[in-house]
Amino acid sequence: MTARAAAVPARVRARARGLRARIRRHDRAYYVLDRPTVSDATYDRLRRELEALEARYPALVTPRSPTQQVAGEVATGFRARRHLAPMLSLASTTDPEAVRQFDARLRRLAGDAVAYVLEPKFDGLSIEVVYRQGRLAFASTRGDGEHGEDVTANVQTIRGLPSRLRESGGRVPRLLAVRGEVLMRRTAFASLNARLERAGQPPFANPRNAAAGSVRQLDPRVTASRALDVVFYDVLAVDGGTAEGTARALGARLRAWGLPTSPDRGHGRHADDILRYHARMARVRDRLDVEIDGIVAKADRLDLRTRAGSTSSHPRWALAFKFEPRGATTRLARVEVQVGRTGVLTPVAVLRPVEVGGVVVTRATLHNWRELARKNIRVGDLVEVRRAGDVI
Ligand code: IVH
Repeated sequence: MTARAAAVPARVRARARGLRARIRRHDRAYYVLDRPTVSDATYDRLRRELEALEARYPALVTPRSPTQQVAGEVATGFRARRHLAPMLSLASTTDPEAVRQFDARLRRLAGDAVAYVLEPKFDGLSIEVVYRQGRLAFASTRGDGEHGEDVTANVQTIRGLPSRLRESGGRVPRLLAVRGEVLMRRTAFASLNARLERAGQPPFANPRNAAAGSVRQLDPRVTASRALDVVFYDVLAVDGGTAEGTARALGARLRAWGLPTSPDRGHGRHADDILRYHARMARVRDRLDVEIDGIVAKADRLDLRTRAGSTSSHPRWALAFKFEPRGATTRLARVEVQVGRTGVLTPVAVLRPVEVGGVVVTRATLHNWRELARKNIRVGDLVEVRRAGDVI
């Protein structure tokens, strides 16, 4: 072990240290402040690089590495609430080969009995909601995975979240803890930002931040004024009441109790089914009114989930298969002015090279000159480069 530890080149050790510090900083900006400083794609790249280094040099792994922990912490201003079961993160990939390996691993455990529930991966704020004797008891954010922020008063204002489980849906358990995502629809997001701008307040960068920022408000009246939705996708704990053996049946039960679940849920038996569902959701993604950043494949049978188990950070029975990133962050190196054939002047941003969906981008036309002046964008600023269809 000592010999191997010594074998890690100093350069690699320093790189890993730097990556950990950057990931921790970004985690805080994202989970605690609701103000991310880099795009998801850039963040994922940093994480993957750290994971690859740790896989190559296991001596680098420490229990405090962000790869071994669930990101996030409890912000001040909210009461901390212990989750009934740890709220883990998901293992994630953009590589179809990793999907095949995931399927092969579950197949080694369960043979041909493997079946999957397939769902969009919602890009919102993950919450736990607990019902006691069928009544909403409390709700909390993910926080550090063990403890979250108590946001009960805020979550209660979400229309579509029942304060009581419907008894016609079958015997209500003494205790039910469900996990889901709070979302803001694109249409609601657009009108909220218009409203904020009219009031001279800063708009939110995207619907995820708007949803998270709206739930993590100290004044529930502010949350109530925001159009939020919730969708449930997992049961964290249940005590007395259900005997379902599959996630599919459990999902039907949640709906019967009045809890919203995804209308786009799919099912499959093989890695190819997961890949096909991913391709289908990527095609319809822009037509959905909620933002999704991939799909999640989960073993359907609950006994297989127990057998597959979890690591300290994620369950081995689920995999997030994300879409190719459409955005990345980089710095604005300078702005040049291009003279067109007809004499039209177009400003062009010269960027520090950055990869977006497989292409290295170094320049971008700045169509919205006035917008730039208004936002006071300057050389050296961090900018986000986004793909819309095939146009950057
Ligand atoms: S299942 C981890 N299903 O994605 C155990 N998670 O990056 C069970 N997420 O914060 C989670 N959509 O909360 C599951 N359809 C879905 C999801 C989903 C979004 C969230 C999850 C986690 C994040 C991981």
